[in-house]
Amino acid sequence: MSKRRVLTGITTSGAPHLGNYVGAIRPAVEASQSGDYDSFFFLADYHSLIKCQDPGIVHQSTLEIAAAWLALGLDPNKVTFYRQSDIPEIPELTWLLTCMTAKGLVNRAHAYKGAVQLNEENGDDADFGVTMGLFSYPILMAADILMFNAHKIPVGRDQIQHIEMARDIAQRFNHHYGKHFVLPEAQVDDDVAVLQGLDGRKMSKSYGNTIPLFLSEKKLRKHINKIKTNLLEPGQPKNPDESTVFQIWQAFASAEQSSEMRTAFADGIAWGEAKQQLFELINGHLAEPRERYIELIENPVEVEDVLRAGAEKARVYSAELISVVRKAVGLKPLG
Ligand code: TRP
Repeated sequence: MSKRRVLTGITTSGAPHLGNYVGAIRPAVEASQSGDYDSFFFLADYHSLIKCQDPGIVHQSTLEIAAAWLALGLDPNKVTFYRQSDIPEIPELTWLLTCMTAKGLVNRAHAYKGAVQLNEENGDDADFGVTMGLFSYPILMAADILMFNAHKIPVGRDQIQHIEMARDIAQRFNHHYGKHFVLPEAQVDDDVAVLQGLDGRKMSKSYGNTIPLFLSEKKLRKHINKIKTNLLEPGQPKNPDESTVFQIWQAFASAEQSSEMRTAFADGIAWGEAKQQLFELINGHLAEPRERYIELIENPVEVEDVLRAGAEKARVYSAELISVVRKAVGLKPLG
């Protein structure tokens, strides 16, 4: 039997941060190294256009995210790593799926509903600022997934609804045109830490509380020093389970290092000292990848070559699938 196919997309808007690393990049790279899966990872740059309409940022972010994944150990020979916009079959499939998707289904998407609700609260027209891109987002995402007949889709909780919609769309298509698509399943890993940000809330670009992955040592130290703590003095026992410093420590430490830090907290380690140790730990993990990252950012052609080769690999599947699906819907040569 062929291996299970795992696929996930990374939206290219903004520089990757520690939360992305711990929650997505690290587990994906580890899974791909195990060789148990046939993994597809792609830069969702079509999706990025929905949120970000600054061409410079879209372009730069594609480079930064690709370089980050490669620098952190993604081996493009072991996985299929590509850029969504290099696969022309994806927008083509998006349309074929759009014609099989009930508008009522898409009306229920959280992101769209959230935008409408916000408009209503502000007394604006319900559709104010809502593009068709935002509305159709789940259909493009369904095309990403169904294109490669992926079984497992590792995502954060906020994306589960989108995977369910991809399933619904696939089911309807299969029912009408014959069985062409695997029904995908979301894979939400509860063991993977959701990292806290500088202010203690979930680390997220939308909260502006992130620690970017590839800062200079000096800036990394500065960011770590900004992590919010309480007013307990050196010598006073501190509760590790209420501390962002400890939470981030745990995401990078071995089991032994974590238990040592627990003891240090109980013994009243000073916040400054705990942060200093946290800096050393994270910097130790990132120093080597950081060098590689900088090299790649300075040589974008190297990254481009990797993505082109990835697209070539991916298109072996997508070209085959689209030709079958085109015929299935009746788009085929006459005579
Ligand atoms: N929407 C996903 C996110 O914001 C990114 C994404 C695009 C994706 N296409 C995908 C994830 C296909 C999984 C599968 O995180």
